[in-house]
Amino acid sequence: MVSKPRLYSGMQPSADSLQIGNYIGALMQWRDLQEAYDAFFSVVDLHALTQPNDPAELREKTRRTAAQYIAAGIEPSKSTLYVQSHVRAHAELAWILSTMTGFGEAGRMTQFKDKSSRYGTDATNVGLFTYPILMAADILLYQTDIVPVGDDQKQHVELTRDLAERFNSRFGKTFQVPTPVIQKETARIYDLQNPTSKMSKSAESDAGVLWLLDEPSKSAKKIMRAVTDSEGVVRFDREQKPGVSNMLVIFAALTGRQIPAIEDEFAGRGYGDFKKALAEVVVEEFGPVRERALELLADPAELDRVLAANAARADEVADATLSDVYAKVGLLRRV
Ligand code: TYM
Repeated sequence: MVSKPRLYSGMQPSADSLQIGNYIGALMQWRDLQEAYDAFFSVVDLHALTQPNDPAELREKTRRTAAQYIAAGIEPSKSTLYVQSHVRAHAELAWILSTMTGFGEAGRMTQFKDKSSRYGTDATNVGLFTYPILMAADILLYQTDIVPVGDDQKQHVELTRDLAERFNSRFGKTFQVPTPVIQKETARIYDLQNPTSKMSKSAESDAGVLWLLDEPSKSAKKIMRAVTDSEGVVRFDREQKPGVSNMLVIFAALTGRQIPAIEDEFAGRGYGDFKKALAEVVVEEFGPVRERALELLADPAELDRVLAANAARADEVADATLSDVYAKVGLLRRV
């Protein structure tokens, strides 16, 4: 049997629910790609520690994130779906890689620069600075061929490639050098109230965020209240009509239709009709995902069992890479 190429991706358990940007920008692609690839999907709880967290809430968010992966169609019998902290090799490889990362190189990461300027140096922890190195460890442990992510993660995958190449040239071929698969621009979803900012789990206001686990009626209301413009024409124009364009992108992504066909359907009709139709599409898509996720969450012991079995599978691959790395860098083997 020819083995399938490897795929790796992950999400932070940084909220009780994923938002529609995570769904369209990541989960939908993951679901499609899991057939052709030997896929590893993690809930990156160690990364989430870079933000202040209540311990009990973090545990709950971790389970909820995993449940939403499964509810959205990631199959734990086909793909390896696990919690990052269950596989100890992640933190260990991150340490080794951090000794090979330049201070300036890490400081150039734009997500770090954004976050540290938002919170100020005193409130910025060192984990936020080394965050991309842990992400590189995630990817490199699994000899990953492709990393499907939104464009906000592109620079981190580039750093991962640089670290893999640096390690390989210093110690001999050890890591597969991964290729980022960046979702096209239309896969980036913006906030419904602030349609020039990316929709985010950590948005200050919840009014423009569509949560996968929200009551369907709540999501419908948010769509009806979404910011538009005064032109009254349903047409795609990111510059002039960011609100309507964002909703067209969501509509097209969830229905698999092309944007011009949707524009035609709503020609001569107002925003009210368009929003009502979009609300129906969203409710129809999210309703079953939400129900399935809540069902899974009603039996946390079974969910934990699935995650443990998958972590054991991840451990095997990760341990093999880490042992090779330890030997190559000259750590004395414990006999
Ligand atoms: P995170 O948790 O911020 O986001 C998870 C995934 O969702 C995508 N995404 C979006 N796509 C479209 N529109 C949006 N509004 C939107 N918001 C988020 C992100 O691009 C991402 O693909 N550092 C990563 C997690 C991570 C990781 C990894 C990813 C840790 N280790 C290894 C890949 C491989 C993060 O914070 O993603």
